[in-house]
Amino acid sequence: MSYIDKRRQLLKSALALVGGGIALPALGAVKLPLTPSCGQAEELTLAQTEGPYFSPNTPLKQDFSADDPHGRPFLLQGLVLDTHCRPQAKALVELWHADSQGHYDNEGYRLRGHIFTDAQGRFQFKTVMPGIYPGRTRHFHLKVQRQGGRVLTTQLYFPQESLNARDGIYDPSLLMQLGTHQDMQLGQYQFIVA
Ligand SMILES: [Fe+2]
Repeated sequence: MSYIDKRRQLLKSALALVGGGIALPALGAVKLPLTPSCGQAEELTLAQTEGPYFSPNTPLKQDFSADDPHGRPFLLQGLVLDTHCRPQAKALVELWHADSQGHYDNEGYRLRGHIFTDAQGRFQFKTVMPGIYPGRTRHFHLKVQRQGGRVLTTQLYFPQESLNARDGIYDPSLLMQLGTHQDMQLGQYQFIVA
């Protein structure tokens, strides 16, 4: 089984559970598996370029939906694990992305923020579907750092985007597992960090 197939299998149970209904934005109610099913040492999540639009000192913020009221709601959920598959509590997860029109806020902090994982290594952001801008496929930017660990800078991608194949930065190992939750598109990803 390929690495990607294996990871998809790991997240399948999480997607199955999400349909039970969760209260937003209460992180404690996120239906992700409390214990990941990976048992062996896993490959590190691929690092990717930060790009030109990173801003430091972002606010602690889990809900970006007011930053782009006309955007299509999107729920980004995930897990942060170490290479021994141990969930990482209080890991930093920073998210920034283009708005639904493909523009970054380079003056303020619209669609930018960071949170920390819960005791089970889980996180979730309520945001909107990023728009596409020239030269790139649809993507999120993230930084992930477990306590005492290195900062992982990377990006996440959407399956079945026709522009993926033409994007020189895109990597299939960074595809989210998509589903739906209520009126929201849902994307899930499991980060493995050093
Ligand atoms: Fe970007």
